[in-house]
Amino acid sequence: MAYHDLTDADTAVARRALASSTPTVLVSRRESFNAAHQLRDPGLSDEENQRLFGKCANLHGHNYVLEVVVVGEINQTTGYVLDLKHLSDVICRLIIQDVDHRNLSTDVPWLEGLIPTAENLAVAFWERLRADLPEGSLRSVRLWETDKNWAEVGDHV
Ligand code: NI
Repeated sequence: MAYHDLTDADTAVARRALASSTPTVLVSRRESFNAAHQLRDPGLSDEENQRLFGKCANLHGHNYVLEVVVVGEINQTTGYVLDLKHLSDVICRLIIQDVDHRNLSTDVPWLEGLIPTAENLAVAFWERLRADLPEGSLRSVRLWETDKNWAEVGDHV
């Protein structure tokens, strides 16, 4: 019987796929980058910026962590919802290569005019990723600014 089981190994995968239900599954990829920023509205005076943003109005940096969650059904051929290496490539091409070791207040054309809070950055990252990923697959983007602070954008919130 042991030989029989081994011979049937390939078809067992197909049989199980046919028999199983197809729940939606979440998968996630985390990437990190280092960047500087300054919370400052150039249309306001130094005093007003200091009042609104305190010491965050001064140029400083963060070790950011970006977590991207994708939702979908499992592809029965690959066993993946989405190949996370592909998701990593998308995150790096659209975001990390533009923001890593940059000043987010001055160096990134697609962040121009934005006060680079974690909230605003999360929305900007969400929009770039959503345009490149399969329709409806992007579930959430969470940006950790420090190990205590994060902002999240998603279809579920
Ligand atoms: Ni900051």
